Amino acid sequence: MVVKNVCCIGAGYVGGPTCSVIAWKCPDIQVHVVDVSQVRIKQWNSDKLPIYEPGLDEVVKECLGRNLFFSNDIDQAVREADLIFISVNTPSKTYGIGKGRAADLKHIELCARKIAEVAEGHKIVVEKSTVPVRAAESIAHILSANTKPGVSFQVLSNPEFLAEGTAIENLLNPDRVLIGGEESAEGEAAVGELTWIYHHWVPQHNIITLSTWSSELSKLASNAFLAQRVSSINAISALCEATGADVSQVAHAVGKDSRIGSKFLQASVGFGGSCFQKDLLNLVYIAECLNLHEVATYWQQVTDMNEYQRTRFAKRIIGCLFNTVTDKTLAVFGFAFKKNTGDTRESPARFVCSHLLEEGARLNIYDPKVERQQIESDLTSTRATNDPERIEKLIHIYTDPYQAVIDAHAIVILTEWDEFKTYDYKKMLSVMKKPAFLFDGRKIIDHQAVMNLGYHTETIGKRFTRNTLLRSSGADL
Ligand code: UDX
Ligand code: UDX
Ligand code: ADP
Repeated sequence: MVVKNVCCIGAGYVGGPTCSVIAWKCPDIQVHVVDVSQVRIKQWNSDKLPIYEPGLDEVVKECLGRNLFFSNDIDQAVREADLIFISVNTPSKTYGIGKGRAADLKHIELCARKIAEVAEGHKIVVEKSTVPVRAAESIAHILSANTKPGVSFQVLSNPEFLAEGTAIENLLNPDRVLIGGEESAEGEAAVGELTWIYHHWVPQHNIITLSTWSSELSKLASNAFLAQRVSSINAISALCEATGADVSQVAHAVGKDSRIGSKFLQASVGFGGSCFQKDLLNLVYIAECLNLHEVATYWQQVTDMNEYQRTRFAKRIIGCLFNTVTDKTLAVFGFAFKKNTGDTRESPARFVCSHLLEEGARLNIYDPKVERQQIESDLTSTRATNDPERIEKLIHIYTDPYQAVIDAHAIVILTEWDEFKTYDYKKMLSVMKKPAFLFDGRKIIDHQAVMNLGYHTETIGKRFTRNTLLRSSGADL
């Protein structure tokens, strides 16, 4: 068999960009992306795509209607496909056993049942969503238990490593593509088919074939390692603040060791995003289920350190503002979990904002990409507060950062958007309450320059001495 027709169930952050790139690079393959959400599909077929990714618009524009199609007709797409990606969301469970930690596989299971119900002939089913080890086995189990005569399946694991904001770049030039399959002739044949698709643009030495379980675990381990690096440097940042060292200097020095490397050593207000926290908790849960308590405790510390970092930053803001933020106005720059995305899932900004709101602060929030309703619903959801009406009165969303700082006591930077580096902070200072404070949770602006303007400045992993501040700002601190 040579794959001619690909279907992807789930038109989200993973399925949408991945299949758009496959369609772009493989004009000889028809790609149908399907979803239960009519709104999502309508958006994919419109001028305003449901997700923001640099380069995505151009790719979709070129392929849409040529060999890339978005629709709600799941049955037909599954029936016609040779190869089916499952790319639905796998959030942490919000109920029952493993609540808050184990991955909720209900969407995956529904997909497997749907495939079993409508499939005809031989299908390769590729698990793309991040799922716990052995999910492929569950999919295979459901499929084989429901197989009709003349229908056969091979299940592969092909985890996604795209990072938001650079998804297209990551998809076009992946460090590696993992393809996990069953160790049998049929399994190898299926691995060969998927390898053939990636071969359209990925060199052979970047395609790794391995067992299904190894592939699934590699995905969890990769995200856990990346998150661990951020927590490690954040732990060092607390030490730096307490002792007068500068975490940027330490990170540079440490990263120069080729055995360690320099990436993912940027101290911050904490990591966010849909994957790190979820995958870490998943790993912890799996370890606990296997009675590997020391392993579970080890990885749990990575997320505990992240929570500590976010809380520490919020407390530092309150401490600097003379131990109270009640009725004070704080201009918050950035709400997305990182720059170049409008995604707020697990964003540290949500946690820091919630902490400040609980203390009675008024927040003027500005983010270049996050929609107003998203910020409002994140901060007033039952997960964030038990008094949404009170919170609603305390938050104001702005589309102009210069308006957001009027009469504010402080600016709080929570996402590393490039535009924050080039603002006219002198102009902003002139309309703020004095002394004006600037808390840089992402270490992105020129601290000496803003101190010279007169801001009391605080950042992660570095403490500016009181003398420097007094000399440079002339402020009455
Ligand atoms: C280490 C540092 O590498 C060196 O830079 C520092 O100056 C002194 O400490 P050393 O203790 O000589 O050097 O050995 P190293 O090669 O780092 O290994 C340390 C231990 O880790 C050894 O027991 C080694 O077997 C073990 N190790 C290392 C592993 O178990 N797995 C690895 O992947 C690497
Ligand atoms: C991550 C993985 O990078 C990707 O391979 C996987 O497929 C999905 O999860 P993503 O969540 O999109 O991607 O973002 P990433 O760039 O990894 O950043 C995650 C979080 O860590 C962000 O909040 C970011 O601001 C933070 N971070 C990252 C730091 O605080 N410091 C760093 O040095 C790097
Ligand atoms: P991810 O980041 O994993 O891509 P998203 O939430 O962005 O997650 O996207 C997942 C998509 O999968 C959503 O658009 C959702 O509507 C879709 N989806 C979930 N369950 C099913 C299902 N059973 N059949 C089809 N689509 C589904």
